[in-house]
Amino acid sequence: MSLPPNFLDELRARTPLATLVARKVRLERAGRDQKGCCPFHNEKSPSFYVYDDHYHCFGCGAHGDAISFVMQNEGATFMEAVERLAAEAGLAVPKPTPQAAEAARREADLSDVLEAAGAEYRRLLRTPQGAAALAYLRGRGLSDSIIERFGLGWSGEGRGTLREALARQDITPARLIEAGLMKAGERGPVDYFFARVMFPIRDRRGRIISFGGRLLGDGQPKYLNGPETDLFSKRQTLYGLDIARAAVRNGAALIVVEGYMDVIALHEAGFTGAVAPLGTALTEAHLAELWRISPRPLLCFDGDAAGRRAALRSTELALKALAPDRGLAILRLKEGDDPDSFVRREGAPALAALIAAAPNLAETLYDMLAEGAQRTTPEGRAAFRKRLEAAARSIEDRSLAGEYRASLIDRLYAERRQSFTAGTQARRNGGGRPASPHIVLPRPAIDAETTSARRARLLTAILLCHPTLLPDLEEAFGLLALPDDCARLRDSMAKWFHAAKALDSDDLLNHLTQSGLRDVAEPLLALMPQRAPDNDAAAMAELEASWYGIYGLMNLKHLQVQCEEQRLRFESDPTPENFERHRICVIALKRVERGESDSDAVF
Ligand code: UTP
Ligand code: MN
Repeated sequence: MSLPPNFLDELRARTPLATLVARKVRLERAGRDQKGCCPFHNEKSPSFYVYDDHYHCFGCGAHGDAISFVMQNEGATFMEAVERLAAEAGLAVPKPTPQAAEAARREADLSDVLEAAGAEYRRLLRTPQGAAALAYLRGRGLSDSIIERFGLGWSGEGRGTLREALARQDITPARLIEAGLMKAGERGPVDYFFARVMFPIRDRRGRIISFGGRLLGDGQPKYLNGPETDLFSKRQTLYGLDIARAAVRNGAALIVVEGYMDVIALHEAGFTGAVAPLGTALTEAHLAELWRISPRPLLCFDGDAAGRRAALRSTELALKALAPDRGLAILRLKEGDDPDSFVRREGAPALAALIAAAPNLAETLYDMLAEGAQRTTPEGRAAFRKRLEAAARSIEDRSLAGEYRASLIDRLYAERRQSFTAGTQARRNGGGRPASPHIVLPRPAIDAETTSARRARLLTAILLCHPTLLPDLEEAFGLLALPDDCARLRDSMAKWFHAAKALDSDDLLNHLTQSGLRDVAEPLLALMPQRAPDNDAAAMAELEASWYGIYGLMNLKHLQVQCEEQRLRFESDPTPENFERHRICVIALKRVERGESDSDAVF
C-alpha cells in the first residue's frame, strides 16, 4: 500500500539533499549547485552533482532523490529509507491504513475535478462568451502563449456555468464543493466563481489545487481566491512556484511579488522566476519554500504604503531564520508602481538593472526602519537605535546577528559623522586656541552634592563648551535620563547640532540664547572655568575619557554598551580613529570599574 503523495513531497522538501550527501562525500560549490566524488563508483575528479531536489553522476549515471540516495547508499528498502529520513525530519510516517488510502483517493479525485474545471475555464475563454475576458487579458499586454502557459480562463457569466458543464462529465456538486468550486447557497449549492477571469493556482509540482478569479471591471472584491480545502492552503502556496522552480534552477532570479498579474507580467518580460503569495502576508512556510530553491530570493512589492509595510513585515519574519545560505533582498519600487506597471513602462532591462543592483538586506532594513523613525530628538534617535539593535538581535544565528548589528550601527555612525565632519574638521584644523598642556576640570566634592544631577550637569557642561565632542558622544548622551535643565539643553543642542555648519561653542551659545535657554546654560558654564583647547588631540582624548568616566558613574551599563559598540565599530572598520575611540572608552570603563571616584576620573 502506498504512502500519500503529499507526505513524500513534504519529506523530500524537509530533507536538504546536500546535507545528507555531505555526510558521505566532500562537496564543493559548482555554481548554484554542489559537486563531489561519486559515492557509487570509484573516481578521482568530481562528477557527482547535487541539485536542490536530486543528484546526478555524470560518471556512472547514478541519479535520484534523497530517498533513493539512502536506498542506494545503505542498501535500504524504500520504506526503511522513508522511515529513517522521516525520523530525521521530525515527521511521522503515516500508517498505510485504509483511511490513508481513502484520503489519497479523495485527493486524486479532487485533482481530477480541478483539472476538469481548469479545462472548462480555458475552453470558455476561447468561445464567444469569453471574448470580453480574452480582450481584457490582451489589453493588459498578455500574449496568447503566456495566457496558455498560465492556463488562464473564463468562468462564464452567471452562476451555474461550471456546474452544468461538469455535470456532463458526471461530476457532482458535492465533489465540486469539496474542491472549492461551489458553495452552499440559499437554494442549494452554487458556483463559487462567476463573471471572472480565472487563474489556476498550482502546487510546486504543477497540479491545480485551486483558482483565483478577477473581475473584468472595478467591482469588489477585485480578486477572489478559492477557499481552503484538503488540497489548498493559502499559507503554504505561492502562485507561479511550479514554473519558477524550474526557471530558478536554470539561473533565473527568484522574485516574490504581490499579485497574480505581477507574476504574469514578469514572466512575459522574461523574469520567469516570479512567484506571489495569494493576498496574504508572506508566512514562514512561504519563506521555507523560497529558501529551498534560492539562497537569496528577492522581494519586489508594490510601491505603496501597504507594499512597504508588507516588505518590512516579511523582512522581520525572515530575520529570525536568516543564515549565511538563507538571505533575502528587497527591491523597493517608487510610490504608485507595482512590478507589472514598472516593467511595462520601463522595460525588462531597467528591471534587470534594478535587480542586479539590489542592496544587501542590512542596507534596506536600515532604510525601512529609518523611514518610520522620528530622529530629530535624542529620545527619537535612541529609540531608533534600539529598533536597529532589536532587529539584529532577532536573528537567531549569533554570528550573523553580530554582523548585522555592526553594519546597522556603523551606518548610524557614518551618517552622523557625515553631517558633522564639515564642522568638526573646520574646528580641528582651523585656528583654535593655543595648546595648553593641562586641562583642568572642576573636581566635584565627594559629598552629598556629588549626585547624579551634578554629574549630569557636568556632562552637559563639557558638551556645551566642546561641541566638537558631540559626534562621538551625542549618541551615548542621548541614552541618559537627565534632570530637567540638562534635558532641555540636550534637546536644543541636538537641534543645533544637526543643522550646524561648524561645531563652535560660541555659535551653540548663540543658538541657546535665541531658544531662551541662556539662563539655563549659564550655571552649567560656570562649572567649566577653564576650557581645554579643541585642537589639542591628546587633551581632547583625555576630556572624552573623563566624560565617559562620569557617564559610567551615572550608568555603568550604558558605558559598557558604548564600549562594546566602539569595539564592534573598530572591528568592522579598523581605522585609527575608531581604534582611538574604542581605546578611550576602555580607559574610562576600567577607571569606573576600579571604583575611581568622580575626582579621580577627571584627574
Ligand atoms: P493587487 O490589487 O496589488 O493585485 O493585489 P494586482 O495583481 O496588482 O491587481 P491588478 O489586476 O493589476 O489590478 C495583490 C493580490 O492580493 C490579492 C490577490 O492575490 C492579488 O493578486 N487580492 C487583491 C485579493 O485576494 N482580493 C482582492 O480583492 C484584491
Ligand atoms: Mn497591478
